[in-house]
Amino acid sequence: MDGNGRWAKQRGLPRIEGHRRGVEAVRTATYAARDLGVKMLTLYAFSAENWNRPKEEVGALMGLLELYLKKELETFVRDRVRLRTIGRTEGLPPGVQRLLAATIERTREFTDYTLVLALNYGSRSEILDAARAYAAAVGTGAERPGEATWASFSKYLYTASMPDPDLVIRTSGETRVSNFLLMQAAYAEFYFTPVLWPDFTKSDLAAAIADYSRRERRYGQTSEQLRPASSTT
Ligand code: IPE
Ligand code: MG
Repeated sequence: MDGNGRWAKQRGLPRIEGHRRGVEAVRTATYAARDLGVKMLTLYAFSAENWNRPKEEVGALMGLLELYLKKELETFVRDRVRLRTIGRTEGLPPGVQRLLAATIERTREFTDYTLVLALNYGSRSEILDAARAYAAAVGTGAERPGEATWASFSKYLYTASMPDPDLVIRTSGETRVSNFLLMQAAYAEFYFTPVLWPDFTKSDLAAAIADYSRRERRYGQTSEQLRPASSTT
């Protein structure tokens, strides 16, 4: 989700106003994705690098996050939205951590639709945390490095038990990955749109999904392997 600051600047408003509108766009996207048949939506809400912003902005973002979680708890329970997180959530303010824990606990039985918030998330810290946990498991004899496979190692990522993303959308015209799900997006389709996050609507999401559905995912194979000539008659 990118472009909150530019959205505000274009209107002569403070950056935090852009973030406030960004939260509205989060609500819209959460339900739009479900209506469009998405089973899991991950939102990159706060990166490990976002701590480097001015401390007033970081404070305001944490305040908005807390307010958002307070407001959404009952809504998620009512609408059967499962909440999960990825990232070093132990680095977030204690109030935010408590709300996250409560919401995750109260929505853990819901299976139809999951919203994943990437908070204090970065792919490189994720790999480091996974490598540390894996090394500890080697120490106890639970893992044998010589037998490691991607399936056995990826269980140590924050995304253990989550499917890899099919589609990664970046708003605001930037064409960077910015340390987001680097391993998990190995075969994801990417979609870049100039729309600023606060302006991102259900129809923008539908357009991204329509674009995705026209692509051919080959996973290293050839087009002919995937669609043998005989089956096109
Ligand atoms: C994304 O919008 C929101 C967060 C990272 C929390 P930005 O704040 O990065 O918006 P721009 O890039 O300044 O427009
Ligand atoms: Mg930005």
